[in-house]
Order: sequence, then structure tokens, then C-alpha cells
Amino acid sequence: MTDRFTGKVVIATGTASGLGAEAARQFAQEGASLVLVDLNAASLERVAASLREEGAAVETVAGDVSDSAVAKAAVEQALSRFGRIDILVNNAAIDPWNAKALPDTSEEVFDQVIAVNLKSAYLFCRAVVPIMLKQGGGAIVNTASIAGITASSQEAIYGISKAALIHLTKSIARDYATSGIRSNCICPGILEAVMTDRRQDMTGEMLEQRSKKAGGVIPMGREGRYDEVARSILFLASERDASYVTGAALVVDGGYTIV
Ligand SMILES: NC(=O)c1ccc[n+]([C@@H]2O[C@H](COP(=O)([O-])OP(=O)(O)OC[C@H]3O[C@@H](n4cnc5c(N)ncnc54)[C@H](O)[C@@H]3O)[C@@H](O)[C@H]2O)c1
Repeated sequence: MTDRFTGKVVIATGTASGLGAEAARQFAQEGASLVLVDLNAASLERVAASLREEGAAVETVAGDVSDSAVAKAAVEQALSRFGRIDILVNNAAIDPWNAKALPDTSEEVFDQVIAVNLKSAYLFCRAVVPIMLKQGGGAIVNTASIAGITASSQEAIYGISKAALIHLTKSIARDYATSGIRSNCICPGILEAVMTDRRQDMTGEMLEQRSKKAGGVIPMGREGRYDEVARSILFLASERDASYVTGAALVVDGGYTIV
């Protein structure tokens, strides 16, 4: 086992399930100390408890990532418990079913998607960048999506939130390139599970259809597994592996966007 993250402190959002929980597990396995943030307090505690059982140092902040007080609390936890912040992973997001068709999308839902998927990254970066600057560097990894590169059908609001997140990633990369802060994002394609908030509005049959369709349209013939996508987050976060990578939007989609 490698230990790329021994002595490193990671703040990661959206870590109560799916990709974020898997990335947290991989960071912990490679020696990182973690502050995990999510709205779902019960699941977040379950993830944290299982990592602690394996010997990892893990703190949690339960709250809404679009609230600046939550970003501040995560930074305070990291500094008071671990004394530094090396890596920030902005991964929390929603993809609400009621933001599918534009005429049916309320202003409230529009604002919510932008707040959770985009404003949160701004808030966490705003809180973390000054600390990274003082420390002489750090790495930011944002979870965007191929929906931020190509226009997915009936996902306009989610898509623009992710497109703007890619732009935020690049802007930070550019502004801090000589200050030791690397900023990158991953753009996953269709993953093994539908995001939690969207899944609750889908029937078993709809989920099965999604899987079948994905198998047909993805050149590699299957959805992405959380463990293989999480490894791309760790690659970009690793100073050893990605020391010369900044401003990248790494597509991890089994070839879905080749054409
Ligand atoms: N699942 C996919 O097919 C897919 C495809 C491309 C990109 N992505 C991206 O990958 C990331 C992870 O998605 P996932 O598939 O693991 O979904 P998920 O729903 O399992 O994970 C998202 C996490 O974010 C948390 N969250 C939602 N709103 C929050 C808020 N306001 N404050 C704090 N936490 C909040 C949820 O509780 C959940 O734990 C997201 O950024 C998503 O946009 C997913």
C-alpha cells in the first residue's frame, strides 16, 4: 500500500455516500486525516465511524455546504484538530428531478442547485485558499461532471452549475499557479448509482432502464464504479502524482464523450 497522504489533512464534502464516501475511504487508507462534511448527519457519522475503526483520524461537520458557516466550521475543525489543510475536495451536489424540464423548474430549485453545486465550492475555496497560501500550497479537487462539458438532455440547471464549477476550478488554478495551489476537477460520466436526491424520485424500473441505456451508449459498455472514479480524485490531489497538473478537467467517463 502506498501512503501518498500521510501527514496530509483533507476537507471533503458530500462524503456521506457514493463517490465522496469512497474517496474519503481511499484517502484514509493512504494515511490522510479527514474532516468530512455532509447534510446527511446519520450517514456521515456511519462513514466516519467505519473509517475510525480502521484507524483513521476523522472529524465530521454536519450541515449544508451552501452555508458559509458550514465552510467556516470545517476549516476550524481541521485547524483545531489537525493544525493544517492540504487538500480540499468539493464533491457535494444535487441533481433534482424537478429541475429536468426548463419550464417546470422553479426559481427556488434553480437557486438551490446553483447554491449547492457551485456557491458551496466558492465558499469552501474562499475559506481554505488563505490557509493554503500561508502554508505555501495545497490542492483543490472539485467534482464536476461531463454534464458541464456537453449539454445533457433535460439537465440544464445541473449542467450550468457544473460548467461554472469547471470555470471556477480553472480560474483558481490560474490565480494561484505560482503560489503552490493546484486546482483541478474531475468530470465523471454515468456512475454506478443515481445521485441520492434524484434516486428518490425514480422507480426501480427507471433505474434499470438507466443502467441498460448506459451500457449501450458508453463505449466501454458499462457505468463507472465509484472506486475507480475516486482514484482520479486522489491522483489530482496527490503532489507526488500530479505536481504539474493544474486547471485540468479530467474526464472519467468510459469514453462517453469521445464523439
Ligand atoms: N452519480 C453519477 O452518475 C454522477 C455523474 C457525474 C457526476 N457526479 C457527481 O459526483 C458527485 C457525487 O455524486 P454521487 O453519485 O456520489 O451522489 P450522492 O448523492 O451519493 O452524493 C452526494 C452527497 O452530497 C450530499 N449533499 C447534497 N446536498 C448537500 C448539501 N446541501 N450540503 C451538504 N451535503 C450535501 C448528499 O447528502 C450526498 O451524501 C456529485 O458532485 C455529482 O454531481 C455523479
